[in-house]
Amino acid sequence: MFPKSLIRCMGCGREYGNNEIIYKCQNCGSLLEVIIEPPKATLAEMSKRPIGVWRYREFLPVDEGAEVVSLQEGGTPLYRCEKLAKWAGVRSLYIKFEGANPTGSFKDRGMTLGVTKAKSLGSRAVACASTGNTSASLSAYAARAGLTCYVILPAGKVAMGKLAQALMHGAKVITVKGNFDDALKLVVDLSIKMGIYLLNSINPWRLEGQKTLAFEVVDQLGHVPEFLAVPMGNCGNISAIWKGFSEFKAAGITKALPQMYGVQAEGASPVVNMLRKETGVFEPVMNPETVATAIRIGNPVNWPKAVRAIKESKGLFDTVSDDEIVEAQKVIAYVEGIGVEPASAASVAGVKKATAKGQVGKESEIVCVCTGHLLKDPEEVIKVCGRPIEIPPDLKAVSELLFSS
Ligand SMILES: Cc1ncc(COP(=O)(O)O)c(C=O)c1O
Ligand SMILES: [Zn+2]
Repeated sequence: MFPKSLIRCMGCGREYGNNEIIYKCQNCGSLLEVIIEPPKATLAEMSKRPIGVWRYREFLPVDEGAEVVSLQEGGTPLYRCEKLAKWAGVRSLYIKFEGANPTGSFKDRGMTLGVTKAKSLGSRAVACASTGNTSASLSAYAARAGLTCYVILPAGKVAMGKLAQALMHGAKVITVKGNFDDALKLVVDLSIKMGIYLLNSINPWRLEGQKTLAFEVVDQLGHVPEFLAVPMGNCGNISAIWKGFSEFKAAGITKALPQMYGVQAEGASPVVNMLRKETGVFEPVMNPETVATAIRIGNPVNWPKAVRAIKESKGLFDTVSDDEIVEAQKVIAYVEGIGVEPASAASVAGVKKATAKGQVGKESEIVCVCTGHLLKDPEEVIKVCGRPIEIPPDLKAVSELLFSS
């Protein structure tokens, strides 16, 4: 049922076995990816199973007999958003709402695979660095699997909802005086030294779960969209989604591919900077800053995979300002009733910008991935919407407040 697979280096092509615990090529230091044999599967057959990550198990390379660790992730709504489409200046706009996952973000798609892999490798402990959602997700899946979970976070820069999740699910949470990039470097060194299984998106097995977002979009929409917009932080998600679309095409399930649209926050945009300059030289952003803390990353490990996804798909890339992010977040919430966290709104803000520039035609169809739930970052909401007005509990006071002009 599960496909045959191997790990391959993106740089030199060296191959590794499925059960080698490595995060970079030992020959050239490049990123690794999981390669699967295209399965003989049909959407009609797979669609007989409940929608969610494991509907597409023919594409999910786990070891035969592995005990799957799941919280019923995936199967998130694809909302058609007519009012938002009008606001963004495009005929057809959909939101793939990843906030509806068990821990409230797309990370759950990757963690079901990643923690299943950790279990089948016999690991007792897992770890990650995080801007918040990875830690929320990993701590929940580790709890479900009975594994110890270590989490390293940038101090003071993680939204409260995400921190609350990691704490309540019993992770050992450490904060460091530094940014996400510092935390990631530390956790990579720690994992290698202590033999803890690392579940940041540098681990290619996680992306195998995240690629199912592409499968679901095809399943729910009935075809491949023209564009797919996604916020980029550490750049695992855009890479995974592109891999998903490419694998469906390789397996003969679809014929088309979307143009991938990678959006970064202005203050944390090393990938967009590089693509703009076309020099081929990647320069990290030393002090990334944005209201969208989930994508506040200056040195994304998966940047080569993101660049490949955008180039292979003849896609788009752009930055959006914090004001544009907050405006989009509010409009999504006001006119469509969908509550997303700031990073998620970057994809929608990016669409408005791309239609204004004519990069996305007015008659186009675009799917925006909204990666995380509004409740993840309540403090940002209070900052941008203000606190409610407090009054004494009497009718006169409430009437005066609501009906006097
Ligand atoms: C809500 C949200 N959106 C977007 C991203 C960026 O995803 P990636 O790091 O895979 O590019 C993250 C990553 O933490 C996230 O939590
Ligand atoms: Zn290599």
